[in-house]
Amino acid sequence: MARPHIEPYVELDSPFKKFDLNGFKGSHYKVLSMDTDTGACTLKVRFDGGFSRKPGMSYSDMEVFVLKGGIKVGKEVWGEGHYAFVPAGMHLGALKVPRGAEALVMYNDSEPSYVESNRNHQLSLTAGFSSFNSYNDAPWGPGNLVSPSVATGVGIKVLHFDPLTQAISFLYYMSPEFQQNNISYHDCAEESYHIWGDSWMMQFGELPTGGYFWRPPWIDHGAFKCKLGCIAFGRTDSKLHNYFHYNPWATPDENKLRAAAHLYRQRPQLYDWTAGHGHNHPHGPPDFQYPDYQDDAQVRQLHGNTPNSTKPAAKKKATRKKAGASKR
Ligand SMILES: [Fe+2]
Repeated sequence: MARPHIEPYVELDSPFKKFDLNGFKGSHYKVLSMDTDTGACTLKVRFDGGFSRKPGMSYSDMEVFVLKGGIKVGKEVWGEGHYAFVPAGMHLGALKVPRGAEALVMYNDSEPSYVESNRNHQLSLTAGFSSFNSYNDAPWGPGNLVSPSVATGVGIKVLHFDPLTQAISFLYYMSPEFQQNNISYHDCAEESYHIWGDSWMMQFGELPTGGYFWRPPWIDHGAFKCKLGCIAFGRTDSKLHNYFHYNPWATPDENKLRAAAHLYRQRPQLYDWTAGHGHNHPHGPPDFQYPDYQDDAQVRQLHGNTPNSTKPAAKKKATRKKAGASKR
């Protein structure tokens, strides 16, 4: 099942649990959200002082955002504000946490895993690796990253961009006395963790420091207010589009139909082809530029195909055969 809607969730009120899994012993965790079919999850992890682990890899794409303290990773030191995207199968150097640390740790495809290894898996897409301090080594941009845009007074730093799905991981701030008076929803899931500061939303009230949400598509949020400013880490699971309106009673189903109507009006050829009678492609229409995109773990997850499903493998075989045939 896709991750359920959780909003607002103030993790500071909940205790950590002992992380009793190979490679994680000596750390504690809280689950912020989880897909119970795949095990994909967002965790807050506390590494106790003295934690260490040998070099190793995970079977899932992983994102890390350091909230407090420092983690030695091989020769690098990941301090407060450090962000890393670690592709599945890519090994990280030995971990050492001399004085303790807290981090958001996200496993995007499957449950947390660790395999001791001092080299990368041969299938790992290591070019996707990135690791930098988001506070010091990335510039703020205006909030109008997408159009239609949030109101003036929001800043964004994009930390990771998935070229296939256009999913983004980012830092954002709301300035003191920020206000936005319309209601927003998206056709992607949206996730946020308040690193510092409070914001307010008409539907969910105050989100304080340590506040978190995982918000599935179509859920109304806004109007917004922020009295003293806040900074947060956010993610989407695909392309972000702001659908704005002023109807406080709209339901998620009505929002969904409105988004489809938007497509009907603005991209009619695409609407007819994908949704028209006899041309429905539940596993995604072919894409000549990315013929195997259905096999991408995140795309499969978005369409409800778990990594163990046999359907995508059969599809892959068929797609390759077809691609080969067209070359002749
Ligand atoms: Fe939003």
